[in-house]
Amino acid sequence: MIKGLKNIVVVALILALITITFTGCGKDSGNGKAGKTGTSLDKIKASGKIVLGTSPDYPPYEFHKEVNGKDTIVGFDIAIAEEIAKDLGVELEIKSMEFGGLLADLKTDKVDFVMAGMTPDAERVKEVDFSTIYYNAEHGLVVNKKDIDKYKEISDLKGKIIGVQKGAIQEDIAKEQIESPQIKALGKVSNLMLELKTGKVDAVVVEQPVASAYVKGNDELYMTDIVFKDEEGGSAVAVKKGNKELLESINKTIERLMKENKIEEFVINANEIMDNE
Ligand code: ARG
Repeated sequence: MIKGLKNIVVVALILALITITFTGCGKDSGNGKAGKTGTSLDKIKASGKIVLGTSPDYPPYEFHKEVNGKDTIVGFDIAIAEEIAKDLGVELEIKSMEFGGLLADLKTDKVDFVMAGMTPDAERVKEVDFSTIYYNAEHGLVVNKKDIDKYKEISDLKGKIIGVQKGAIQEDIAKEQIESPQIKALGKVSNLMLELKTGKVDAVVVEQPVASAYVKGNDELYMTDIVFKDEEGGSAVAVKKGNKELLESINKTIERLMKENKIEEFVINANEIMDNE
């Protein structure tokens, strides 16, 4: 009799324990800490940091600079990213890579957002979601100073070796607007400029602020007056497809910065940092 009662008590206790364990679990994931129900914005806030993917070969957007003896990634994209992080109440962590690899890392959650002077063209819009445009620039052309007289119009580029960044829209622009170009696509803009100086490419197509940044640092290089058309132009922030909450927060930050004329200020600052050798 007593033994039977004991068994019942033991079974009841086990049942109670099982119930507690399960409800406990349910509550945890309900909080969305790292559980499936948590949004990616929750995860960012819980981790206390947001990870930016960028390609720091694009002054004044993003570039390397020695700050207090330490190699640092700076630029107006980075200043905007800092504000995005600040508005979310988290730290900014920067992951740098070649431009061509950025969207793959975004899609596989290796970075939370991408800022790299990236243009939201039709192809990319299918893959990721973009913020409102925060900056507009035209596409220009860098050549060797000794060739200034050779390149006055786009038609002068016929059949020439044109340097573009791998995965960047300048590749399409060059193919569409230059007659039978020989395209040379490299991962880094800095390497394109080296190829240009050593005569391995005839001209490089990049956004004009970047063209003028490289020309400032290189006496042998020159930015021509040639401008390439680009209806889809402008830079926007990319997030993973469907990451609505993060995108809303980013758009709010951009809206605030534009209202406060901060983006212009960040561009000026970035140019100043660049000039302070
Ligand atoms: N705006 C161009 C594009 O979206 C080039 C951007 C290159 N950015 C960079 N950080 N290297 O394709």
